[in-house]
Amino acid sequence: MHLLPFFLSALPAALAANRRTYLPSELFSPLVTQKLLTTAQLKPGVPSSYPQYTTRDTGAWLFFGADTWTSGFLPATFYALAERAAICPRSMNGTTAAQWIQFGRSSSTGEIGLEAHTGVGHDVGFLSYPFVDELNVNPQNVTALQAVKTFGAALAARFSPIVGCTRSWDAADPTDFQVIIDNMMNLEVLFNAADLTGNDTLRQMAISHADKTMVNHVRADGGSFHVVDYNSTTGAVIDQRTSQGYSNSSTWSRGQAWGIYGFANMYRRTGLVRYLETARRMAAYFIDNIPSDGIVPWDFNAPLVPPRPADSSAAMIAAQGLLLLAQQEEGLKPANRSGSAYYTDAATQILADTTSAFWAPTWQSLLSNGTVNNPASPPNNLTGIVYGDYYFIKLGNDLAKMGLASCR
Ligand SMILES: *[C@@H]1O[C@H](CO)[C@@H](O)[C@H](O)[C@H]1NC(C)=O
Ligand SMILES: *[C@@H]1O[C@H](CO)[C@@H](O)[C@H](O)[C@H]1NC(C)=O
Ligand SMILES: *[C@@H]1O[C@H](CO)[C@@H](O)[C@H](O)[C@H]1NC(C)=O
Ligand SMILES: *[C@@H]1O[C@H](CO)[C@@H](O)[C@H](O)[C@H]1NC(C)=O
Ligand SMILES: *[C@@H]1O[C@H](CO)[C@@H](O)[C@H](O)[C@H]1NC(C)=O
Ligand SMILES: *[C@@H]1O[C@H](CO)[C@@H](O)[C@H](O)[C@H]1NC(C)=O
Ligand SMILES: *[C@@H]1O[C@H](CO)[C@@H](O)[C@H](O)[C@H]1NC(C)=O
Ligand SMILES: *[C@@H]1O[C@H](CO)[C@@H](O)[C@H](O)[C@H]1NC(C)=O
Repeated sequence: MHLLPFFLSALPAALAANRRTYLPSELFSPLVTQKLLTTAQLKPGVPSSYPQYTTRDTGAWLFFGADTWTSGFLPATFYALAERAAICPRSMNGTTAAQWIQFGRSSSTGEIGLEAHTGVGHDVGFLSYPFVDELNVNPQNVTALQAVKTFGAALAARFSPIVGCTRSWDAADPTDFQVIIDNMMNLEVLFNAADLTGNDTLRQMAISHADKTMVNHVRADGGSFHVVDYNSTTGAVIDQRTSQGYSNSSTWSRGQAWGIYGFANMYRRTGLVRYLETARRMAAYFIDNIPSDGIVPWDFNAPLVPPRPADSSAAMIAAQGLLLLAQQEEGLKPANRSGSAYYTDAATQILADTTSAFWAPTWQSLLSNGTVNNPASPPNNLTGIVYGDYYFIKLGNDLAKMGLASCR
């Protein structure tokens, strides 16, 4: 394994004091850019399909129609590389920000039609990512403005005032109102649409959804249920269970990771301390349940025999959530420097351990050993995953922007 030391002089003194983690040199490898350039050229022009995960043996991308919850991640990855070109010009292997913005724009065009109708349910939040990125490049882009507002309205249309949540999945029985922990990630589109329209109702819906999830998905020990079923007629909780996890009472690691990020983001958006506290509890559960080998399993309660598959995507999402949480601790007045250092250390440790185990130089994806859905038949495990790679790249950008990594 190749390791780069942290650049200690760039760190605030309190953060540097207990520093022991090393960042993997792969974080800013030119191979990142080279692989994404290859992926960009697999479907040139206006794409109708997007990579989601790879084959298990050769790591070749498998493509899915635009109306799939993961289709925003590749265009969003291209925008993230445009950002990287400005922060880390030497890591770009000769490519430029302008090229990556162009890839982001052309590859997200396949998603524009989804505004009128999509089958992804609550996942309009994920679909909105590249359009939000476009607005950071060009706040006047009418197509992107329209997309973010429309996706926000689509999630709002799934809100039930009786339940107090936005509906995640549609069920055969319309009174079975299913909410999954992943839905915490999609609330951001309500805030973005509220910012663009001034419609405060959207913000209030996000707060209501997060309050319900805090009570009904997060357990006393900080772990989480994947699915909560509410009765849409009465608002009552009728089931707390799993879909993609090992058992109804287990903690599915990717759901836990979405929760850490989602609640840290709710605190960033609202300043309500209950969300900071919930993010901390979910973070503590995740960190405390990583085994001594540093490998994040697909479910924290899955049996060890036969060997349980890892989920490198859960690791990357959790690390990104922990970094967001560290930023919130740093932003408290006065700053919580020990809290910030604790979460930054945990994020970089997870990043280092996961990269060391699962960097996949010969695959099209950056990382291997992601688990998409292990209870599926057949189980879908040990692949590259488009959102694992996306958060790997975002982590590098954010660590560099925070002055915690040098890539110049
Ligand atoms: C970077 O670009 C050059 C020239 O295009 C290429 O030969 C090289 O293999 C690339 N990749 C890496 C990882 O440096
Ligand atoms: C505006 O944004 C859309 C969607 O992100 C993109 O496809 C399009 O190329 C952009 N238009 C301009 C003029 O940049
Ligand atoms: C605000 O958004 C909600 C949900 O989409 C909608 O029902 C309401 O009409 C909007 N209010 C205004 C003033 O546009
Ligand atoms: C929800 O409650 C209504 C009224 O009590 C009942 O008719 C319906 O079957 C319930 N739905 C579910 C999914 O439990
Ligand atoms: C989880 O609970 C549901 C009922 O809500 C049940 O049908 C299912 O068998 C349970 N799953 C496991 C793995 O115990
Ligand atoms: C990672 O995946 C490979 C197959 O691609 C497998 O042989 C290996 O056991 C996996 N490692 C872990 C820790 O899950
Ligand atoms: C600082 O962060 C740690 C970890 O989240 C937390 O336990 C502690 O209460 C925080 N301290 C303050 C003063 O907020
Ligand atoms: C991983 O997936 C493979 C292929 O679907 C399956 O045969 C295997 O049982 C899964 N591993 C575990 C431990 O569930």
